[in-house]
Order: sequence, then C-alpha cells, then structure tokens
Amino acid sequence: MKEKILKLLRTTEKYISGEEMSSLLGVSRTAIWKHIKALKQQGYQIESKSGYGYHLIDEKEHINKEELNIIIHQLGDFFTEVEYFDQIDSTNTYAKSLKHRRNTLIVANEQLMGRGRLGRDWKSESGQGIYMTLKIHPDLMPSEAVNMTQIMALAAVRALKKLYDDDVLIKWPNDIVFKGKKIAGILTEMTTELNQINQLIIGMGININQDSFDGELENKAVSLKQIMDKEISKLQLIKQILSEFIKLYNEFVIHRNLEFVIDEINNYSSVVGKEIIAIDKGKIYNYKAEYIDKDGRLIVKDDKGKYKELLFGEISVRSKDGYSE
Ligand code: BTN
Repeated sequence: MKEKILKLLRTTEKYISGEEMSSLLGVSRTAIWKHIKALKQQGYQIESKSGYGYHLIDEKEHINKEELNIIIHQLGDFFTEVEYFDQIDSTNTYAKSLKHRRNTLIVANEQLMGRGRLGRDWKSESGQGIYMTLKIHPDLMPSEAVNMTQIMALAAVRALKKLYDDDVLIKWPNDIVFKGKKIAGILTEMTTELNQINQLIIGMGININQDSFDGELENKAVSLKQIMDKEISKLQLIKQILSEFIKLYNEFVIHRNLEFVIDEINNYSSVVGKEIIAIDKGKIYNYKAEYIDKDGRLIVKDDKGKYKELLFGEISVRSKDGYSE
C-alpha cells in the first residue's frame, strides 16, 4: 500500500486529499493516514495541509522495499519478490537460503561478509555501493549458466553507458572496469538438481560513493562518484541494469548461447586484443586474448601460436596494462 501511496503522491503535482487517495486505493482514510505517517518515519518529507491533503516535498533518494517494488513492477512480471536489508551478511548467501522458486531481487545497504570471486571478500560498507543479488530459476543446464555472468556484465555496461559514461568495459569474465580500474564485480553461484539448475544466484557489487580506496585497492578500484561529476541515483541504476538484464535474459533462454550479442560483448571487452596473464592453480601463463566465443569462453593464443579456451572458474586474468584480479 505504501508503494501505491508513493506513486499517487508522485503523480500529483500539488496536493492530493486523503479522501481521494482512499477512494482510488480502496482503503479507509485512517489507513491512508497511517501509511503516510509510516512513510514520514522512513524519512519522506510529506507535507499535510488541512483542506488540501498531502504533498511529497523532498525527492531525496530513499532505498527501501517499497521503492524497489515500484521498480520491479515497472519492469513487468520477471521479478515477483523483493527483499531489502539495511544490513546483512551477504545478499548472495541470503539468496541461497531462500527455498521458494520465485524470481527475487535482494538489495542491501551494507554487507558484513560480502563475498567476491575466488573466495575473496567484497568490501561492502554502509551506503557506499550497490549490493544486489538476483535469484532466478532458468530452465537451463548448469553448463549454460556461466553465460549468465556475461549477460549480467553486458546489462551493467549497457546501463552505465546509457546513464553515465562511455568508457566502461567488461573485463572477462566478471568485472566492469573504467580505464583499467574495477567499478563493479559479479559473483554467480548456483544450486543444481540432477542436470538442471535449481537456482541461479547472480550477485553484483558496484562501487558508487567511495571518495577513495585504501591499500592495495587504491590502484585497482574506482567508484562512480570518482569518475562522474553528477549525482548518482542508485535506484535509477538498479532499474536500468535490471531492465537490460531482463531483455538479454529473455533472448538468451531462446538461443541458449551468446551469439546474438557476441559482437557487443567483444566490442566492450577490455581484454580482447591484449596481452594477458592467466593464473591457473598458481601457474602463470602468457597469452594474447583473441576473442570471446558464443559460450562465454575467452579464446587465447600462446606464444607458439596455439589456441586455447579459457573457462571461468579458478582462472584469474590480468591485463598487462591494468589491475590484476
Ligand atoms: C568479484 O568481483 O569478485 C565479485 C563481487 C561480487 C559482490 C557482490 S555484492 C552483492 C553480492 N553479495 C555478495 O556477497 N557478493 C555479491
């Protein structure tokens, strides 16, 4: 109901009376009043003027379950559930604990045990980033799921390019980079049953508000705030990424490979065409990255001219001119 009230307040330029809202939404005026009171407690600045009604003054961004619900409904029926946490251990870990099969969006303001790829931590301080997980149930084989990381990366790059900057690229397999520095990372996990995916968990962390990074991250990471001079709306960015993801996902489940976006994926790659170092089980290999194929593999050439396919998993790829993962 709070979600519907917010929508009405936003579509009304001046005041909307409690009576009008109650008849539009089919609930009592007392119920409207109670929800308005709760919204005020959540920090929304709603002016009440007797004889006129209610008026939403501030449009400072509030990230909460209601706002996220508005977004998922605007995007159709792909997601049916939203969970929002001020603080959580990890949105991916939480997603795994959910046993129902509904497509769910989970967002947190802070993670106490944010996880990255290859068993690393993902620093997730309060309000500094977007920490979100998509829990979905695709009718795909486990081997096809790796492509979902590429789909998510492409969705994020398309969204970031649309909203902010042209210089963002995908560093295969799971990072979004800006001039060689990491702006976002993806952690895809799944649970399987027989030879089918039971649930696919796609977590994404985006650096948004950090003014600086300490220690070894200083030369490796960057936030949107550091590279843009405009205010960043987390909600707008979440919405844009989800909208791109849903479009790409719906295509992907038809084709079951990345052929339909392979040019875009290669064009937006920060490693294709570069000399790279791949680290596999502690061993270091030098390659030239040739292209990404329709199954999401990185095709590389060694110094003897022999082609090799790199899969996801334990391989860490390092551009010679960029940060190392
Ligand atoms: C990486 O680059 O290594 C992947 C980072 C993924 C971080 C996100 S934040 C939301 C979700 N919850 C987690 O614990 N990790 C992912």
